[in-house]
Amino acid sequence: MQHSLTLNTGAPMPLVGFGTYLIKDPEVCKSSVLTALEAGYRLVDTAQFYGNEEAVGQAINESGIPREELFITTKLWHTDAGDAKTRLAFEASLKRLGLDYVDLYLIHHPFGDVYGAWRVMEQLYHEGLARAIGLSNFYPDRLQDLLLHFDVVPAVDQLETHIYHQRLDARELMARHDIRLMAWGPFSQGKTDLLKNAALGEIAARYGKTPAQAALRFLIQQGIAVIPKSVNEHRIRENIGLFDFALSDEDMTALKALDTKKSAGLTHDDPANVRRIVAL
Ligand SMILES: NC(=O)c1ccc[n+]([C@@H]2O[C@H](COP(=O)([O-])OP(=O)(O)OC[C@H]3O[C@@H](n4cnc5c(N)ncnc54)[C@H](OP(=O)(O)O)[C@@H]3O)[C@@H](O)[C@H]2O)c1
Repeated sequence: MQHSLTLNTGAPMPLVGFGTYLIKDPEVCKSSVLTALEAGYRLVDTAQFYGNEEAVGQAINESGIPREELFITTKLWHTDAGDAKTRLAFEASLKRLGLDYVDLYLIHHPFGDVYGAWRVMEQLYHEGLARAIGLSNFYPDRLQDLLLHFDVVPAVDQLETHIYHQRLDARELMARHDIRLMAWGPFSQGKTDLLKNAALGEIAARYGKTPAQAALRFLIQQGIAVIPKSVNEHRIRENIGLFDFALSDEDMTALKALDTKKSAGLTHDDPANVRRIVAL
């Protein structure tokens, strides 16, 4: 199996990346990213909102890995969405990361002046400062709206996606426009019993793999990129050990049947959650 997929820009993107949400302590963040890079990860996912772009940048720099081998994603927070603010926010992210371009720049949430933000992001893309641009937490209605009003088709939509929330509706629209799904929260952020699910455990054991590995393999085997987060060296390595086995069609079908179509996180379908996120 290929270790990467091809974006609609023509660029390759690793199927497995390293997530950094809630790794706030700069030293822990730096050492976790360094461990991940040493373990073979080449994609690192951060965000302006995570407050750790500087630590991620230090790890990239210290790793000594050539820039062109890495795939770095960061995200624009809604308070900086808009014609006048987005470029400044992007430049500040680049500076904190110590980079002169990012591989993927995402709108973190579809709130605030999304149209102004995307206008600037299209420019950043054409200037080569963001090698690809995309979205995060854009459900099908918001994604469809953006597609109808702009020229550059997003390369990626990053959505909460895991065995309990498989996103078939979003995937259908994204496939039609050659947009890749990047799964955030592939373990449902530990908010459900996913990794203790009996069916998942039984399937994983038959391959000599952990439930976490089977849960990730289930996604990448369908062309969905995953960005699991861990600060634990053993689990960081475990989460990229996905390319020496393949789930059978029968096991894929059994895991597909576990879809509850329910979010474990803050879904935008609830206005109270939108208020919560905007107030963060
Ligand atoms: N776009 C967005 O709005 C958005 C939202 C959330 C997340 N994200 C991105 O997606 C990434 C992943 O999502 P997430 O961090 O929220 O949740 P996640 O990856 O689903 O789950 C992380 C949790 O799982 C634990 N864990 C990691 N590997 C494990 C393993 N092999 N076995 C058992 N437990 C394991 C981690 O603990 P330890 O650290 O102790 O191992 C942590 O508590 C984030 O880090 C971030 O980059 C994006």
